[in-house]
Amino acid sequence: MADVASDKFKELTRKNEEALLGGGEKRIEQQHAKGKLSARERVMLLLDEGSFEELGKFVMHRSKDFGLDKEHYLGDGVVTGYGTIDGRLVYVFSQDFTVFGGSLSETHAEKIVKVMELAMKNGAPVIGLNDSGGARIQEGVVSLGGYADIFYRNVMASGVVPQISAIMGPCAGGAVYSPAMTDFIFMVEKTSFMFVTGPNVVKTVTHENVTAEELGGASAHSTKSGVTHFACANEVECINQIKQLFSYLPQNCEDIAPRLAYEMKNEKRAVLNDIIPANPNQPYDMREVINGIVDDNTFFEAHKNFAENIVVGFARLAGRSIGIVGNQPASLAGVLDIDSSVKAARFVRFCDSFNIPLLVLEDVPGFLPGTDQEWNAIITNGAKLLYAFSEATVPRVTVITRKAYGGAYDVMNSKHIGADMNYAWPTAEIAVMGAKGAAEIIFKKEISEAENPEAKLAEKVDEYTKKFANPYRAAFRGYIDEVIYPDQTREKLIRAFQMLENKVAVLPKKKHGNIPL
Ligand code: HXC
Repeated sequence: MADVASDKFKELTRKNEEALLGGGEKRIEQQHAKGKLSARERVMLLLDEGSFEELGKFVMHRSKDFGLDKEHYLGDGVVTGYGTIDGRLVYVFSQDFTVFGGSLSETHAEKIVKVMELAMKNGAPVIGLNDSGGARIQEGVVSLGGYADIFYRNVMASGVVPQISAIMGPCAGGAVYSPAMTDFIFMVEKTSFMFVTGPNVVKTVTHENVTAEELGGASAHSTKSGVTHFACANEVECINQIKQLFSYLPQNCEDIAPRLAYEMKNEKRAVLNDIIPANPNQPYDMREVINGIVDDNTFFEAHKNFAENIVVGFARLAGRSIGIVGNQPASLAGVLDIDSSVKAARFVRFCDSFNIPLLVLEDVPGFLPGTDQEWNAIITNGAKLLYAFSEATVPRVTVITRKAYGGAYDVMNSKHIGADMNYAWPTAEIAVMGAKGAAEIIFKKEISEAENPEAKLAEKVDEYTKKFANPYRAAFRGYIDEVIYPDQTREKLIRAFQMLENKVAVLPKKKHGNIPL
């Protein structure tokens, strides 16, 4: 009996060892030669040591066409399971390029769906490490069905548990749509790419000559399209950044993000008094304001190189995780345009989905004028940000550091659209438009009839500036709760978010709203 048991144990050991090798040692070496890790190495780097529990290790495909009945690999090209990061539960799938190029078969899809469903039932994030040649070509429609099964779960899980995608190899065809429906996408420079149709199809259809890297590499998607939120130098950096992002997130929509212990001390930050330049048209970097406010070295920026005229990211304030949206005067004077509106709207909706309070730092001269913006629908796209803020029920606090002009004043988390606390620095200018433009319109006749029109214009600009280019008109009305010295900002915000901790806000009963997409 002991011998039989021992044989059976040996069989299990052999199968376990076989599964660990995926498509075999040679293909793992090829993967390493490309500067890529294997699917299992990635999982081990991501999860706490010894925490990984694998599911479906012995799953194999059921195909018989094109010689597949003679080629089987345990696990079928994806490593799936659960484990912990800093002791917190996550579900993981990691595609194995060494098995049929990580291509997605019916069974491969079933494994991914299984972890997604477990994640939803048990309220923990899903992290997908993608490295795949797309649909398993030999399987045809069965593989397409597998993709659709995943897409459907992506949508069902959206707003229930955080979903994070890392692209660590090719990701082509419909395969890009699952990551696109997750909350954050990471890409690795030079070794990963994403596109719906590759360079060959592009050449045939549009006659453009473009490499895979140019078309859909990390650089293209982090700067031009905004598809990816993070572009990392290599896979190790990518995995470390995923862990960092995860530290700011809760497990699910009913949880709150982990909070670090914090004891209040002297919270004055003198550095904030010297950031706004004397000349109101001179730029400064809003990141300096952010770093001056938040706990030291905690600002974790997302979407850094896309739509740089707005800054979004996570940070800690007195140990509490917050989401920050800041206009960026250092880029296009911090103007709101299509890309920055969409970037910020998506970030706001993510934070709201997962109970992460929002801090808005405002210095915005208005919306960007021009045919390019109008014809590409700045109206609809700007409305996305307005909609996202208006709908958000998490604690929302705004600090106006300098300009808050026109419609952008309303959009950037004004009191009128549901912000809870609105502060302004003494340098704030809250008005319908800039003083020169305003004076030219409302004193047009007076200026043109004056003996010295230039001097008249200057006089009227000065009059308008004194009346409106300050925070006090808004403060008289209570649109601004308090005008504060910059060095007080951190302390005020810590207290405000503490005060708002148990905020309850409920939206009117509806099936779902109709955000202007
Ligand atoms: C089956 C595949 C495969 C696939 C790659 N392989 N892609 N097997 N189905 N989709 C296999 C290769 O045959 C090869 O097997 C191994 O994986 C490695 O592939 P290579 O081509 O040698 O690697 P490389 O040169 O690095 O090129 C990687 C690649 C290329 C760029 C991904 O393989 C490629 O273009 N594949 C096809 C991509 C594609 O068109 N997919 C379908 C997209 S349509 P051996 O045995 O030699 O190691 C789609 C529809 C989804 O996805 C729709 C959802 C809505």
